[in-house]
Amino acid sequence: MTSVTLSTPITGEYEQPIGLGQFNARSTLRRSRVSNHLNSQKSSQINPSNEEVLCSVYEAGEKDVDIAVQAARKSFEGPWAHVTPEGRGKLLVKLAELFEENLNLLAAIESLNNGKGIALAKGDITHSASCLRYYGGWADKIEGKVIDTDPERFNYTRQEPIGVCGQIIPWNFPLLMWSWKIGPAIACGNTVVIKSAEQTPLSALVAAKLIVKAGFPPGVINVISGFGKTTGSALTHHMDVDKIAFTGSTVVGRQILKASAESNLKKVTLELGGKSPNIVFNDADIDNAIAWVNYGIYYNHGQCCCAGSRIFVQEGIYEKFVERFKERTAKNVVGDPFDPKTFQGPQVSKVQFDRIMGYIEQGKSEGATIETGGSRHGTKGYFIQPTIFSNVQPNMKIMQEEIFGPVCSIAKFTNEVDAICQGNNTTYGLAAAVHTANLNTALRVSAGLKAGTVWVNTYNSVHHQLPFGGYKESGIGRELGEAALANYTQTKTVSIRLTNAPFY
Ligand code: NAI
Ligand code: MG
Repeated sequence: MTSVTLSTPITGEYEQPIGLGQFNARSTLRRSRVSNHLNSQKSSQINPSNEEVLCSVYEAGEKDVDIAVQAARKSFEGPWAHVTPEGRGKLLVKLAELFEENLNLLAAIESLNNGKGIALAKGDITHSASCLRYYGGWADKIEGKVIDTDPERFNYTRQEPIGVCGQIIPWNFPLLMWSWKIGPAIACGNTVVIKSAEQTPLSALVAAKLIVKAGFPPGVINVISGFGKTTGSALTHHMDVDKIAFTGSTVVGRQILKASAESNLKKVTLELGGKSPNIVFNDADIDNAIAWVNYGIYYNHGQCCCAGSRIFVQEGIYEKFVERFKERTAKNVVGDPFDPKTFQGPQVSKVQFDRIMGYIEQGKSEGATIETGGSRHGTKGYFIQPTIFSNVQPNMKIMQEEIFGPVCSIAKFTNEVDAICQGNNTTYGLAAAVHTANLNTALRVSAGLKAGTVWVNTYNSVHHQLPFGGYKESGIGRELGEAALANYTQTKTVSIRLTNAPFY
């Protein structure tokens, strides 16, 4: 067993040119044979910009998953336990450096497989490296406490790793989500079996090579590819997986909790969907607010769990705001992800494209008004016009359900209380934003919103040092920052009796 279990993998080689232009991805995607492949199912990888097949990837079957889990277990109980915290930190820092050295290649694979603009993809890789390095820094700072109860006892706590962690990630930020998961898990001394999303496994396979290059001992990080219902489910039901960390839909989040309940009560953390409010007050700097509202909904083609998809504008500036926002929307460059000017590429897959177009049709039939967009962009690839709905009622599907595309709803509010009520009128609670020049308004509204993150006069300002996660049905637990360490450690209390005096 190598340090990377290529489920996946790989009985053939990716020989066809995959159109990376100046980036030499061919040699990296060309895989060596591995003997542990036990499943014959493959997923076709589609370039979402032109709907053409790029290559196919083997999907891990139940036996593949079991082999990966066994490798992670063996490493956790053996060699990995002897690597010092400093050693774990150095490995993560080395991996961060390798991400930076391979920035162009990794970004190109993301653009090719996911469709995101190359400039945004490079940002993803830079942020992934920062996240890995940040958790490398935490590895030797995970400490317990001495707790004084009385003179007859000496008590201390240890923050111990949980064990074998199954990690299931989505396709919207393939390597960024990979890093958010791997970083804290490894810093805390766990071993990992990570499953990429079936739509975007390619960058994770290249990153698997970097794990080997960084020098991680065998079995510490095991990368598998596969579908949710097969590979994902095998991992969530596995009796020797101690924890599952998941990012994806709320529907699957519920299934993961159920799988935990039906198997070994593995610990579960969930980062799920959102329907985040972006609230603009009369006194906001309107240019600034429009720029952030635009970025809030259209960044990553709207495929963000924290997308600001419900825009509430105070009545005094509503008409002006809608006109200016439409003008701003029209300036977003939609097209080829490999053009550095592109802001919005295609949606990731036909399934997502159809789902979003379905919501657009639903909005039209429920009587909302299309201010701009509302159709496919072009004739090839999964491109969708940036779309703004107005005249939207609170109970409409487009106002309640996560669309996960470049589609937003805009509505009016009267005062602070109304803004908070409308902002909180959702089952989700991942993020929110307030745009105002008044500090008191910002503080009061931030306090009133039921969301794991509130941005003021900005949006999507996610940073690896800041905790991120959901209230309500947006999740359980917090990723990033020191908070994420709680997801990957468990507290052991040791209590030592200091006297031999009779105790009864
Ligand atoms: P999904 O939740 O089905 O997929 C996310 C990950 O979970 C993938 O790796 C998938 O293979 C895995 N998965 C799926 N079913 C599973 C199961 N039964 N057991 C274990 N793992 C499983 O999301 P999908 O279908 O790709 O997208 C549907 C919607 O979910 C999107 O339209 C969006 O609303 C939401 N979503 C939210 C994300 C977020 O960042 N919070 C990311 C991706 C999707
Ligand atoms: Mg799904």
